[in-house]
Amino acid sequence: MQTTIEQAARLFLEQDNILVITGAGISADSGLPTYRGVGGLYNTGQTEEGYAIEDILSIEMFERRPELTWKYLLELEKSSRGRRPNAAHEALAYLEKKKKRLWVLTQNVDGFHHMAGSEKLVEIHGNLHRLSCTVCEHEEERDDYIGLELPPACPQCAGLIRPQVTLFGEALPYEATRVYEREMNRGFDCVVVIGTSAVFPYIYGPVVEAARHGIPTLEINPDRTELSKIVRHFLPGKAAESMLAIRRIFEEANS
Ligand code: OAD
Repeated sequence: MQTTIEQAARLFLEQDNILVITGAGISADSGLPTYRGVGGLYNTGQTEEGYAIEDILSIEMFERRPELTWKYLLELEKSSRGRRPNAAHEALAYLEKKKKRLWVLTQNVDGFHHMAGSEKLVEIHGNLHRLSCTVCEHEEERDDYIGLELPPACPQCAGLIRPQVTLFGEALPYEATRVYEREMNRGFDCVVVIGTSAVFPYIYGPVVEAARHGIPTLEINPDRTELSKIVRHFLPGKAAESMLAIRRIFEEANS
């Protein structure tokens, strides 16, 4: 059912245990392309090398031709370079501080939720800014990939360096999955989904489950998705302006 900003804000005001699931749409308002939208990485059909992007960003390709996977990882990193978290990321970090328990589950690898200050955060597909060696224990944080020779070699052992992001065909990161399962088991009394086409079961699953159990659900997206007919509240709008408006109502109610 289509909803209003006031009704959406009421969920954030009334519920204590809130799960917010985010996808590329929340970072679109920071100027990043989405994966499946215009200009998105997945919207170009085959790459110039003749592979589908999912095949290039796969663990199999990374092991066979790391320079090719790295070429497109660099594209991903470049699309977020110099860009900043927006009002939606900031509103979620703010609300986390005000609520008893608000978790963000993101598929985004841009690190913007972390930069905005979210702490109860599961980066289920990892983070492009964290790199590690595939051979030794070496790890490093990088603001960007400027000056990185591709594919990069470990400064300690000369092994192949990779970003800590989930490639296709690879298991989800262990620690993120552990926290995800722990928090899902504790349960939530409200599930909000912002800016995702929700193609993975661990993303749409919590929304579908909540709806099935009569737990309030809210989707914020300018376009309808597969989840729009399942959620109780659908707010048609962009992430940043919607979350900023929700934050203002929340602040007003608590002043
Ligand atoms: P998609 O590109 O599939 O979907 C982006 C969603 O954001 C769409 O539903 C848009 O309508 C919506 N959107 C666009 N602009 C928006 C805005 N300003 N505010 C709110 N919503 C907006 O991106 P994801 O669903 O994040 O995984 O893609 C999921 C995963 O697919 C990615 O994490 C990636 C990819 O395969 C891996 O790389 C493992």
